[in-house]
This record gives sequence, structure tokens and C-alpha cells, in this order.
Amino acid sequence: MAQLWGGRFTKETDKLVYNFNASISFDQKFYEQDIRGSMAHVEMLAKQGILTAEEKDKIMEGLGSIMEDVKEGRLAITSEYEDIHSFVEANLIQRVGDAGKKLHTGRSRNDQVALDMKLYVRDEIDAIDGEVKDLLKALLKIMEGNVQTWMPGFTHLQKAQPVTLAHHIGAYFEMFRRDRGRLMDIRKRMNTCPLGAGALAGTTYPLDRAYTAQLLGFDEPTRNSMDSVSDRDYVIELLSALSMIMMHLSRFSEEIIMWNSNEYQFVEIDDAYSTGSSIMPQKKNPDIAELVRGKTGRVYGALMSILTTMKGIPLAYNKDMQEDKELTFDAIDTVKGCLALFTGMVSTMEFKKDNMEASAKNGFTNATDAADYLVNHGVPFRDAHGIVGQLVLKCIELGTSLDHLPLAEYQAISPVFQEDIYQAVSMKTCVEKRTTYGAPGPEVMRQVIQENKKYLEEN
Ligand code: ARG
Repeated sequence: MAQLWGGRFTKETDKLVYNFNASISFDQKFYEQDIRGSMAHVEMLAKQGILTAEEKDKIMEGLGSIMEDVKEGRLAITSEYEDIHSFVEANLIQRVGDAGKKLHTGRSRNDQVALDMKLYVRDEIDAIDGEVKDLLKALLKIMEGNVQTWMPGFTHLQKAQPVTLAHHIGAYFEMFRRDRGRLMDIRKRMNTCPLGAGALAGTTYPLDRAYTAQLLGFDEPTRNSMDSVSDRDYVIELLSALSMIMMHLSRFSEEIIMWNSNEYQFVEIDDAYSTGSSIMPQKKNPDIAELVRGKTGRVYGALMSILTTMKGIPLAYNKDMQEDKELTFDAIDTVKGCLALFTGMVSTMEFKKDNMEASAKNGFTNATDAADYLVNHGVPFRDAHGIVGQLVLKCIELGTSLDHLPLAEYQAISPVFQEDIYQAVSMKTCVEKRTTYGAPGPEVMRQVIQENKKYLEEN
């Protein structure tokens, strides 16, 4: 048991208590951030004359070598230390002697851990943002190639109106684009440096907090030391944004699972992203999509968990806050894993365009267009709606579609219909006439794709 305290204690910590309290098993994940933070702290202490240049050099060298050794696997982070902060400090003292004992001057583990967590979250926001961007690139590629791939658009899971694959995928593009926006908002709001807040009330040393903030890439130091050590808002915001990403991935997964089913046959998931059954030889299961859908639960769980943990904590730091780590790390790793696999799955998935088009053509997805035809010939929309309803009923009775219903049948219900009705209800017309901005018409879709491309180039 190696801990940073003990002077005022007369007994050893109970072994179970020690284990219950220790965080080394998980906070070792941010050893790099912890060392980076310490380096900035030392740099500042020297600038302020709190450490000598010589002490600084020794400590910096020691910290650098610990970082290297851990990275290269030469130094193992073991459970004999209470937490990552103790591990680094103890190793530093071992390596550089007395100078190492000065590392913690003007600092508490409370502001140290607040800093480490922020640095970690900030690094991960950037990594996740990069992964969402990769997914957007994959989606854009599918969009570019499918401006004229017709498919049914659904409401209530009932065929509604024809759209294109580019348009359908474009809806997900928008969702993930907003997700990136959310990540960037959080990054910007959280980018203030807690170092120098001390345990809760700052310190009596002449620290230059603006300097450490700048060294670590923060916009400014935090403005209140009590808030600094007990703020986990950014963790909650991150988990909320991650939940949203998972919700989007999960909706998309659900569609892919349906599209991949024997009933739809809109897509075929690549063999590399499918799994088999141990009993049924014919099966090719969409396990990846199902797992992504399933893992959404644990990310939501992390969000609810931290919200609940934080709700009753009085100012300032309390040990409850140590609970922020495992669930945040797990949520981050889950989202990163899901994003990478999902991007791989969608970019290798085969779209069965003929099936999509055939499906769009049955199910009366052009009924609204037949009504619009009547409206264009002076029939009020409400009457047109009723007339087309009767036509649909007729088609069902005759086992046909609006594309193939004889003109005589059309005219028996409304004499307004002429030969050009067939062109008006053709799939091509139905999609191509939807030219309002944001609609599936190929022209306007190409424009949106260009805009998306520009967005990806600039962001
Ligand atoms: N392991 C602690 C955490 O994760 C570090 C801060 C400990 N501070 C303290 N006063 N015990 O929150």
C-alpha cells in the first residue's frame, strides 16, 4: 500500500478499505494526461521562483522518463499505489530524489484529478469527433453514388412517398453532423483550466494560473476554485452527447437490420461484418448492428449514473466524484468502438438497388402525386384526396398499381384524368419533381451533397 498521506494516522488502513478507496485500477488510463499536467505545473512553479531551475530540470526529466517507460511497457502501473497521482509521484521521488518531493507544491489531488479528467475528456472529444467525421465521409460517398437510386420513404413504417437512397442516408448525415457540433460546443465550454484551485480554496503560493492554462491549451483558468474541483458538468454533457450519438447509431442499426432481413432485402451486409449460427447453416446475422443497438443502453446508463451521483453532492470535492471515471471511460470506449465498426459495416454494405426500386413502385407511394395531378387540373386537394383513395381501393381490388390501372378505370372515377397521368405517377416524376431545398429531387440533392462536401473540407 503506497499512499500520499498517513502522517496523522496511528493505524494502517484496513485492506478492504484500501481497495474500496483506490482508483489505480482505472485512473491509470490517464497517466499521460496526469504527467502532462504535472509538467505544466512544474514549468509554472519554476517561472514563479517557487522551484529552482535545477529542480525543475530534474523533475521534468524524471516525469519524461516515467512517461516513456510506461508507454514502452518498461514500467508497470501496479495496484500497490492508491491512484495514478501517487504512482507518478512515488516513481518520481525514486528517480530524482528530494526534488521530486516538491512536485506537489501548491497543488491538491482535487485540482489535479479535475485537470486530468478534463485533459482526458478533451483528448477523447477530438478522437470521437474524428471518428464521426470518418462516418460522415463514408455516408457522403454513398450519397454521391445514389442520387437516382429510388426507394420507398416510410412513415409509421408504412410506405409513404418515394425518396432516394442518397436522401435517406442524407438524413443520417444531418444527425451525425449535429453530433459533431455538440461535441465542439462542449469542448469550447469546458476548456478552462482548474489547476491552481488547490483542494478547494486556491493556495498561498504565487501561482500563475493563466500560464499553466496556456501551457495546457486551455482558453483561460477557471474563475472559482470551489467550482473548479467539483465541476463535472462537462462529463455529463459529454455523456449526453455520446448518448445522442448512440441513439443515432442505434436507429440506423435498426434500419440496417430490417433492410438486411429476408423480407426487405434492401442491403446485404458484407461477410466480414456478419456472423453465422451454430445450428442453422443458412443464417447470416447482422450481429454488429444488433450489438451497436444494444450497447446504446450502457451509454445511456452511464449518463443516468453520473447524473444521479452528482445530484446530492455538497461543495466542494467529495469522493463520490471518483465514480465519474469508470463509466465515462466505458462510454467513451464503447462509442469509439461502435463508430469504427459501424463505419466499416456501412461502407462495405451492398445496396440492392433493384429491390429498393421495386419496393418503391408498389405500395402506392405515388398516390400523393396522383392527387397533385388532379389539383393541377383545378380539383380542390380534399376532393382529389378522396378520388385517389377510391382509385387505390380499385387497384387493390384488381391487384394492380396506379402505374398500370387502365385509363378507363381512372376516368370512371374522375373524367379529369388523361393519358399523361401515367407520366405524372411514374417513379421518375415523383422523385424528380420534389425539387424544394432539402427534398430528394436529384438536382437539389446534388446541391446539398456539394454543401456537405464543403462542410467536411472546412470542419
Ligand atoms: N481518485 C480521486 C478521484 O478520482 C482523486 C482525488 C482524490 N482526492 C482526495 N481528496 N481524496 O476523484
